[in-house]
Amino acid sequence: MASDRKTPPTTTDAGIPVQSDEHSLTVSPDGPIVLNDHYLIEQMANFNRERIPERQPHAKGGGAFGHFKTTADVSAYTKAGLFQKGAETDVVIRFSTVAGERGSPDTWRDPRGFSVKFYTDEGNFDMVGNNTPIFFIRDPMKFQHFIRSQKRRADNDLRDHDMQWDFWTLSPESAHQVTYLMGDRGIPRTWREMNGYSSHTYSLVNAAGEKFWVKFHFHTDQGDGNAYLSQDEADELAGSDGDFHRRDLFDAIARGDHPSWTLKWQIMPYEDAKTYRINPFDLTKVWPHADYPLIKVGKLTLDRNPTDFHTQIEQAAFEPNNMVPGVGLSPDKMLLARGFSYADAHRARLGVNYKEIPVNKPQAPVHSYTKDGAARTQPVTDPVYAPNSYGGPAAQPSEHEAGIWEADGKMVRAAYTLREDDDDWSQAGALVRDVMDDAARDRLVSNVVGHLSDGVSEKVLVRAFEYWKNIDKDVGDAVEKGVRDKIGGKSTAPGMASAESIDE
Ligand code: HEM
Repeated sequence: MASDRKTPPTTTDAGIPVQSDEHSLTVSPDGPIVLNDHYLIEQMANFNRERIPERQPHAKGGGAFGHFKTTADVSAYTKAGLFQKGAETDVVIRFSTVAGERGSPDTWRDPRGFSVKFYTDEGNFDMVGNNTPIFFIRDPMKFQHFIRSQKRRADNDLRDHDMQWDFWTLSPESAHQVTYLMGDRGIPRTWREMNGYSSHTYSLVNAAGEKFWVKFHFHTDQGDGNAYLSQDEADELAGSDGDFHRRDLFDAIARGDHPSWTLKWQIMPYEDAKTYRINPFDLTKVWPHADYPLIKVGKLTLDRNPTDFHTQIEQAAFEPNNMVPGVGLSPDKMLLARGFSYADAHRARLGVNYKEIPVNKPQAPVHSYTKDGAARTQPVTDPVYAPNSYGGPAAQPSEHEAGIWEADGKMVRAAYTLREDDDDWSQAGALVRDVMDDAARDRLVSNVVGHLSDGVSEKVLVRAFEYWKNIDKDVGDAVEKGVRDKIGGKSTAPGMASAESIDE
């Protein structure tokens, strides 16, 4: 903090100079405080309202500002201005954990959020991803249940491994992501050293109106993306420096060590999606690189720290529906639900005019017909309706929109139609056998054994052993042996009383 600057006079929020930073207004030095000490009341009242609701998931995080430069010619795939070769776009980024609260330790095992807002000339483009290329579930109906199972119980408000494994083992589609989570990606060494992924499939449209499917990969330039903390290191840090990741990012940028990521795309021709052996919109699956190789797009660099965490990071509002012309959503059911959920969360957390908060404000001009509401600051001009004959903004119906794909059929509540290679275990098994080396596999087993040996009931344990044997027989056997040795036979963890027994 600079200490040599000229000290300005303290004022109230109305800009009126105040007479003391230390003494309230009283009737004589020893007498009572008076009600017309407006400055004291303003200080108390503002303080009482300093906290805002935390994000439901992803409450703990940190972030920074920077820019993205498109270095390759990818105009064959998209007309989006920010992805034209040479274009430079300002960004804000936020990294986070998922299940912990705002003050929780950075080093708890969890996926990490990787949110980027690009302030493009055509409006904000938000890529709200994670440090893993896939996710636990493929239908948004399960998301709320999933997050609750990772957070806290109703009775004691404690986190509970029993409910985590209860949910996961009853949701076999989680196997791939749980394998990532229990492996090294579950506790990255620093945010700077981790990769980021869109995880979802998005759509692209080029200037000629041709459509493609795409997955985004932000590969860290600080190493190979696999830097991790061991469970013991992470546990120690959780006690000694709960803000370890936040501090590391801030300190690195402050000393001029600016982290960067190379953006790469996997591109799938539009028609391939109909016949590809895996449903390309299933969020629990990767597209093998042998089928769809990575192509280089550009570089993201972070070079500026926030100066006010609350207004610049805590109030940052990322939303997957922020898509600019040339980039769009896809038939991934999770992504479509996210297209609704985030803006709703922001209205609840920050108020209806959250897009006027400077960090959320687009650099592109805004000509929308929204109006008024709490904390509105942007003046509205007539005409306030459309269509009108007074020169108000008019939509451009000729614009090619990404995210327009064909859909037809009866309304149903059903899982995706299974394809030839769609199953819940194969890609998780391939991750264990083909991507992890012996040491990484040993760490995976040790992490799972540690987790399962801590408060998981016998009935859930039995399902967990099956789950791991379905992923990989050897890993499953090692997990079962490790847990049985550690807990000395059957689990005596109580799990939770069933709902019926509470009603009785
Ligand atoms: C945060 C909903 C799936 C990544 C959030 C928030 C909500 C939410 C309500 C809090 C937003 C806020 O208050 O600012 C959902 C729903 C999902 C879903 C309904 C599925 C249907 C995912 C997936 C990913 C993801 C699959 C990653 C690929 C994130 C990230 C944040 C977040 C990174 C933190 C954003 C920030 O940094 O402010 N999610 N989410 N979510 N979600 Fe999701």
